[in-house]
Amino acid sequence: MNDDILIVKNLAKSYRENQAVRGISFSLPRGEIFGLLGPNGAGKSTTISMLAGLLSPTSGQITIKGLDLSENLLKVKQYVGLVPQEIALYPTISARDNLIFWGQVYGLHGAALKRRVDEVLDIVQLADRAHERVEVYSGGMKRRINLAVGLLHRPEILFLDEPTVGVDPQSRNAIFESVEKLNREGLTIIYTTHYMEEAERLCHRVAIIDQGQIIALDTPANLIQHQGKSLIRLSILDGVIDAVEEKIGHLPLVGDVNRRDHTLDIQTHESQQVLMEVLQITHALSAQVTSLEIMDASLETVFLNLTGKRLRE
Ligand SMILES: Nc1ncnc2c1ncn2[C@@H]1O[C@H](COP(=O)(O)OP(=O)(O)OP(=O)(O)O)[C@@H](O)[C@H]1O
Ligand SMILES: [Mg+2]
Repeated sequence: MNDDILIVKNLAKSYRENQAVRGISFSLPRGEIFGLLGPNGAGKSTTISMLAGLLSPTSGQITIKGLDLSENLLKVKQYVGLVPQEIALYPTISARDNLIFWGQVYGLHGAALKRRVDEVLDIVQLADRAHERVEVYSGGMKRRINLAVGLLHRPEILFLDEPTVGVDPQSRNAIFESVEKLNREGLTIIYTTHYMEEAERLCHRVAIIDQGQIIALDTPANLIQHQGKSLIRLSILDGVIDAVEEKIGHLPLVGDVNRRDHTLDIQTHESQQVLMEVLQITHALSAQVTSLEIMDASLETVFLNLTGKRLRE
């Protein structure tokens, strides 16, 4: 008997000929914060919309609390909360009235409704501003009310879709604190983001997703240790790049070297030593260096090493 709260098997979704999600599988123990980290268009929103029961998969199976999602849609929807990327609030009424409206949609009434609205306002740290119309809120405050809406019916799994995009630092912190507090109280959370620092800070495990597939899945520490070589990114003017690439590729401490136009991405575990050797080579070959960047091992370099692309370009 498997007691994981969520089990995903071979999940796929196509929009006409566009295969947005191509066979994703993973399981989630109760109480985990699980990150889906990937660039624009990777398939993050499509995946969590299917997990939350809003979008039907083209193929694959989703099991939540032992129930097959497609066969128990209404029951399973009680267990899950989705905080979408888009704001779904009425601008001309107060935040509190928005929450009362959504609470009624979820079947709450009277004193229980009022109590729950106060609780979720506390969780997102906006109780003192709740009487104001949503249209005067900052983008970050709107996102926090969006989060509050997703919590009204006390879900056991919460799906957060890039909750900090376009959000001011104060709201960003409030969102982090809410997520950490909710998780300490037992909520299982799936958090999509293309900010690797957020995934590193918040998530117990991270699935790196690119072009609709999971290309790596582990704790942030393990991902960085096993796949996160540091990277020296060197751009040179032109002419001798072939010779520079060839010589760098033969250095014993260098892993792969990826070239794009006039830029070389040099993978290594020993960035300081290799940096000196690289500069000796460019000097000896009279190459003109136009930019030089050293990136320490992080989820960003894990992604770069696996795909040759940056998470954000
Ligand atoms: N309703 C839709 N109709 C057609 N294609 C879609 C639809 N929604 C998403 N797509 C396509 O599916 C792919 C995955 O999109 P998705 O929104 O899931 O990515 P994402 O990882 O959430 O990206 P972002 O970081 O930009 O939010 C993209 O190629 C996108 O253009
Ligand atoms: Mg998205």
